[in-house]
Amino acid sequence: MNIRKVSVIGAGQMGSGIAQVAAQAGCEVTLLDTKVEFVEKGLANIQKNLTRSVEKGKLSEQDKQSILDRITTTTEMKQACEEVDLMIEAVIENMEVKTEVFRQLDQYCPAHTILASNTSSLPITEIAAVTKRPEQVIGMHFMNPVPVMKLVEVIRGLATSDKVYQAVEQLAREMGKNPVEVNDYPGFVANRVLMPMINEAIYAVYEGVATPQAVDDVMKMGMNHPMGPLTLADFIGLDTCLYIMETLYEGFGDSKYRPCPLLRKYVKAGWLGRKSGRGFYSYE
Ligand code: CAA
Repeated sequence: MNIRKVSVIGAGQMGSGIAQVAAQAGCEVTLLDTKVEFVEKGLANIQKNLTRSVEKGKLSEQDKQSILDRITTTTEMKQACEEVDLMIEAVIENMEVKTEVFRQLDQYCPAHTILASNTSSLPITEIAAVTKRPEQVIGMHFMNPVPVMKLVEVIRGLATSDKVYQAVEQLAREMGKNPVEVNDYPGFVANRVLMPMINEAIYAVYEGVATPQAVDDVMKMGMNHPMGPLTLADFIGLDTCLYIMETLYEGFGDSKYRPCPLLRKYVKAGWLGRKSGRGFYSYE
């Protein structure tokens, strides 16, 4: 199974990054979102990243142009589904929204199309169950910022076929990524390990053990993390962090995953991190 035509649904930070690395891997890419301004913003993000690479001498102007030429944008789901080999969903982390999107994709995509989700913690098996092709549904969890981070967690749902797994793993390699095979349990591996650490860092602030800056300094200087956990939480989005903690808490029914009350408070206040201008730090 050779994947040449890829569509990405959701042109946000993750979706536009995925569209970029797919086009860099030589695929014909369609980037889909609900509004023209969303796809334009996604495309502008890709252009900015590629221009930076040209300025740094890592990419020729000609290669930049051919990567951009391989990307088409649309707001029509049916158009994005035409003749597509792989559809990668990168919409909001909400089970109802995702399952509705997968129902539609299953209806509009050709029989051979693989349906992948970039979900960071929602069950692939449950998403697959709303389609008539659960063996062709898989998780492809990219890390933020997508063009930089090497990892892709490739998540097998209960029914995912070996053929589909291998095709997706091969494409991830062509994108310059290192795929890691993971089974379908809440948070997979990345967020099952990362989020409790972030949540614990928030508890340390909540309980007055240290300031956010002090917590981050400990982890940066003591553990060589490129970003402290609270800077990283602001970067990921505190609403996303809370949603993932809730998924772990509900999925395992274990109190060790209880979200910190301070995290809930910040999200209720609209302090969502970088994207809202305020989280553990101020970005205004
Ligand atoms: N998009 C594209 N490229 C970017 C970028 C972005 N948003 N941010 C930085 N870069 C590029 C820079 O252009 C630079 O490229 P070159 O090496 O070609 O020069 C490179 O990344 C390094 O950037 P900087 O020198 O500006 O800054 P840095 O060295 O501090 O690195 C970082 C920035 C890569 C983001 C680094 O801080 C880092 O690795 N942070 C941790 C990120 C992380 O943990 N991500 C995972 C989050 S969890 C997740 O995504 C999963 C989930 O489900 C929640």
